[in-house]
Amino acid sequence: MLNSDVPSNPRSVDTQGAGRATARRAGTGPYLDEVGGTGAAHTPVWFMRQAGRSLPEYRELRAGSTMLEACFDPEMTCEVTLQPVRRHGVDAAIFFSDIVIPLAAAGVDIDIVPGTGPVVAAPIRDEAGVAALPDLTPDRLEKIGEAVRMVVAELDPQVALIGFAGAPFTLASYLIEGGPSRNHEHTKSLMYSRPDVWHSLMSKLADLTTVFLRAQIDAGVDAVQLFDSWAGALSLRDYRSMVLPHSTGIFADEVISTVPRTHFGVGTGELLGAMGEAGPEVVGVDWRIPLDDAAGRVPGKVLQGNLDPAMLFADRSALDSEVRRILDEGARARERGARGHVFNLGHGVLPATDPGAVTHVVELVHELTGK
Ligand code: CP3
Repeated sequence: MLNSDVPSNPRSVDTQGAGRATARRAGTGPYLDEVGGTGAAHTPVWFMRQAGRSLPEYRELRAGSTMLEACFDPEMTCEVTLQPVRRHGVDAAIFFSDIVIPLAAAGVDIDIVPGTGPVVAAPIRDEAGVAALPDLTPDRLEKIGEAVRMVVAELDPQVALIGFAGAPFTLASYLIEGGPSRNHEHTKSLMYSRPDVWHSLMSKLADLTTVFLRAQIDAGVDAVQLFDSWAGALSLRDYRSMVLPHSTGIFADEVISTVPRTHFGVGTGELLGAMGEAGPEVVGVDWRIPLDDAAGRVPGKVLQGNLDPAMLFADRSALDSEVRRILDEGARARERGARGHVFNLGHGVLPATDPGAVTHVVELVHELTGK
């Protein structure tokens, strides 16, 4: 570049004049155009858990390091984030990290155990446990910011970079249960027995989540997704009183609300309306309800989803007809008031998925929806 005043990448332009590089690319590339509600050149497509175990190049790179080490190693994080973009041609990259990283960064004794997931050394089940939960200061996330800046510098500006965090309920479940849980019994027990302790834990977790998302936005992610993966375990009544106010506070944050926001959970068909009220532009839908049905539950939102991850194991003709069905339902969702459709899975890519099936879906979505 001859003129040193012109940044080589439009993403690095500082529009705020305060060291921030956010909200500088409203509507550039299919993903940002679609979530911005203006419609895109083709239906954008990316996959939850696209960065990770289904890719041989990921397994090779990760050999010999733990998941936590990888998440605090900017070069590795950057490379893993870019791998699925290179291989599949997706319209968005998801920043490689994990929902428990803000907890680990704050000093909580937590590990990510292969084949199991997050495991907490001392589960939090009472007032003293909540009081002992450390705060997260931004200086503990320097490696995260560094990694985001590296991705931003390398990523094609037409491809959006999505940052993410776990929502307070899903984080609370790991902290209270001590690890993955089918029934969330300790979590629900605390919620019902000690609502005061529950709400103070949830507000601390909302603060941690806010710091984690702000760090990613300050470093240049284009959009964010808040994963409340296990919220579907709750009734709508409990979700509204015990969870929604905390998630709403995160979306309303003055920094977080400068970028397009997605809210996602599994088995949340009955909660979609409330999850939409939390404030995101985009609501994730799993495979249990059709997109055109979801459109009636979250009026005026962009919908994201909703291919069953197991379909990536089916033969090509079955897979293709599912992709077509979802695109048709996405089009009908638009007719029913949805502001757009981002093609994705209903949950994450499963580890044993053939990467070729993932690439195939990207090509098919682009081919069928290109104008
Ligand atoms: O989506 C992406 O590709 C970006 C990276 C990402 C990871 N975890 C990497 C990861 C994202 C967005 C997450 C989010 C996450 N982590 C969620 C919410 C999304 C969801 O799937 O519901 C949850 C609940 C977690 C907690 C967690 N971390 C689980 C359940 C696991 C899997 C455990 C296992 O091994 O089966 C992890 C570990 C993890 N996070 C891996 C990856 C690539 C696998 C660990 C490894 O490769 O060593």
